Amino acid sequence: MKVLVLAGGNSSERAVSLNTGAAIGAGLNRLGHEVLAIDPATGRTLLDSSGTFLTADSAGNSNLPVAPVSTEVAVALNTGGLKEVDIVFIALHGGAGENGTLQNLLELCGKKYTGSNMRASAVAMDKALTKRLMATANIRTPDWLLFHLDDAGATPEMVDEITARFTCPFIVKPNESGSTVGLTKVERYGQIPAAFVEAAKESRHVLVEEYIHGRELTVAVLDGEPLPVVEIRPKSGLYDYEAKYTKGKSEYIVPAPVSDSVVVEIQEAARKLYEVIGAAGLARVDFLMDDSGLTYCLELNSLPGMTNLSLAPMAAKAAGIDFDQLLERIIQSGLRRRD
Ligand SMILES: Nc1ncnc2c1ncn2[C@@H]1O[C@H](COP(=O)(O)OP(=O)(O)O)[C@@H](O)[C@H]1O
Ligand SMILES: [Mg+2]
Repeated sequence: MKVLVLAGGNSSERAVSLNTGAAIGAGLNRLGHEVLAIDPATGRTLLDSSGTFLTADSAGNSNLPVAPVSTEVAVALNTGGLKEVDIVFIALHGGAGENGTLQNLLELCGKKYTGSNMRASAVAMDKALTKRLMATANIRTPDWLLFHLDDAGATPEMVDEITARFTCPFIVKPNESGSTVGLTKVERYGQIPAAFVEAAKESRHVLVEEYIHGRELTVAVLDGEPLPVVEIRPKSGLYDYEAKYTKGKSEYIVPAPVSDSVVVEIQEAARKLYEVIGAAGLARVDFLMDDSGLTYCLELNSLPGMTNLSLAPMAAKAAGIDFDQLLERIIQSGLRRRD
């Protein structure tokens, strides 16, 4: 098959996406597919002359255009070489690649692609909306408030509302983002304005959440079926950008050493959330478990990382599905899409 990998993009998760793209590209080669790879932010190929993926450094990370999908890519999808592509493998994280924009473009172009459709991607990218859906599906989620920011940042009224509702510590994070970018664990109320400034760099909507102290668990879901639970033990305490993407900064345990009832509870919650969101292919649902054993759902990632440190491939492996088989399953499910 001729597979076009889209990786890079102009979101804050660009570097991670380039790693995901390289891992996927190598796997697709091993599977015998013909691989093309393009960075939608620049319209340029991501393969060097020998067909090897460019690294995050060589792909060029400065002077990226503001448009999330370059005109070149939009045009190329319907003309020239890309017309023959059997499926587009989306290896983007954050921004237009994950929030449904690109999925919509591909639908308009009549192209098959992997993963969730436009609607599910847009819902999953909106953490507050996802939390509202969790409430309807009886899935526990940390208490929260959502604010829409104008240019003034955190107003005194917002600060009052937060201090009336939450005791420190609590979490301030962008409503639409990923990779823990723009997230602050607020230890003193005085930090609220600065935390809002950080979150607002990523999204106009800022989520304030009760802090859950405990363990970090995640459940990948493939074609509606939950995979074994992975526990993440970040050495620094918070599962932040560095802990996520630097080898040795986190310890991963799969299957997670938690009781069978916790496994059943969060696998069921993950399956239900995947279903109410209408996700497709591979997704990953993040949870926290507090010291008393209560589990809280944080979000669904519609485009989970696929690097060699990533959680979903780790979970798949524990279920007997190796990385290349996982890619093939994702492709087959993209080809079967009927919506
Ligand atoms: N309410 C919370 N309580 C404690 N830790 C949190 C909370 N929300 C987020 N975190 C920490 O930040 C990480 C990223 O948060 P998450 O909501 O999954 O956003 P994303 O992964 O999209 O950046 C979590 O894995 C966890 O380590
Ligand atoms: Mg997360």
